[in-house]
Amino acid sequence: MRTNVVIIGAGPAGLMLGRLLELAGVDAAILERKSPDYVLGRIRAGVLEQGTIDLMDRAEASTRLHAEGLIHHGIDLSFDGDRQRIDFSALIGRHVMVYGQTEVTRDLMNARKAPTIYEAEDVEPHDFDGKSPYVTYKQGGTTHRIDCDYIAGCDGFHGVSRQSVPQTALTLYERTYPFGWLGILVDKPPVADELVYAHHERGFALCSQRSPTRSRYYVQVPVDENVEAWSDTRFWDELRLRLNPETAENLQTGPSIEKSIAPLRSFVAEPLRFGRLFLAGDAAHIVPPTGAKGLNLAMSDVATLADALIEATIEKSSAGVDAYSAKVLQRIWKAERFSWWMTSLLHTFPETGAFGRRIQRAEFDYLCGSQTAQQSLAENYTGLPS
Ligand code: APR
Ligand code: PHB
Repeated sequence: MRTNVVIIGAGPAGLMLGRLLELAGVDAAILERKSPDYVLGRIRAGVLEQGTIDLMDRAEASTRLHAEGLIHHGIDLSFDGDRQRIDFSALIGRHVMVYGQTEVTRDLMNARKAPTIYEAEDVEPHDFDGKSPYVTYKQGGTTHRIDCDYIAGCDGFHGVSRQSVPQTALTLYERTYPFGWLGILVDKPPVADELVYAHHERGFALCSQRSPTRSRYYVQVPVDENVEAWSDTRFWDELRLRLNPETAENLQTGPSIEKSIAPLRSFVAEPLRFGRLFLAGDAAHIVPPTGAKGLNLAMSDVATLADALIEATIEKSSAGVDAYSAKVLQRIWKAERFSWWMTSLLHTFPETGAFGRRIQRAEFDYLCGSQTAQQSLAENYTGLPS
């Protein structure tokens, strides 16, 4: 078999890239290791920047998003019980949309006309240094080969694409944090109209939502914490302690329908192009979820990559593919900086001690008193221009 582009991974990055190429008349095969149900079973964040909404429009996959997505004009910060609303619309005339990543994935799956190859085992990119790359995979005991012009590695942090590059050609930048987020999903209305990001000496907490009847809550826990140690009751008690009293009182609790712990990590690989292989999305970078940037960053990578691959295939110009890595890394590092900053402001870091907490308090007080500081948060949270 032969195609223009082989995309490895059918998460939101791979599916969006596939859809943009499909609409431009560029052939692409998508190879995914898991089943569609498995992919749709992953619970991820759910805050979309305007750029991501625009891209869903371009992909002709946005009907449900416009009907069901919730426009949020701001967020609430809480620091040891003191509250500050950040009013994006008043500060910079922008907003975000709450719409689950799972739903984005489902809409992109439904929009795609060509079949996606699911449950592809042992996917391997080959010869991307030369002019004739190809990808092999196994299905039902048979090995298949797809010849192509380009390979897009959209296979997430643990994927094969980045691992296939000679490690001497890669520079990795990484920061791990000594904590993770314990999250639960519950069929109860959200505690507040907007998201509440809370710092407390017991640790960070976040009140998020998926719909008017479904909520998502998180508490910071040590990185080696065992999810089994957290009954629903323990979770709700801990969350209440970390919120300001008024929010805690309004909390509607119920049985969790999902409960898991995710570690926090900042990670960037450079460069993102190796001959005819490109990395995009979580394969290229990870941000801690505090700034809600992961999905949006993956989407802006593939918007740039799609334009580059369309230009290379249809206009036979390599300008876009040559510029891809440097262009997207600029935006990636700005999102890394913002996600690290939000994480540093709102979590407890045992190693920084009392001095560290005073600095965090000063940062919060500065935010409360400075419209300029609030504008900076607002423009980063709602999405910097690409
Ligand atoms: N072969 C084929 N597919 C693979 C392989 C492999 N060797 N390894 C991983 N995959 C698949 C995974 O099963 C997954 O479906 O690649 C896909 C990668 O999807 P995501 O992890 O969702 O990454 P991405 O599409 O870049 O989306 C980024 O996801 O993790 C969040 O915060 C992140 O919201 C951001 C978004
Ligand atoms: C979520 O709803 O899961 C969510 C929202 C905002 C974040 C992170 C996660 O910053």
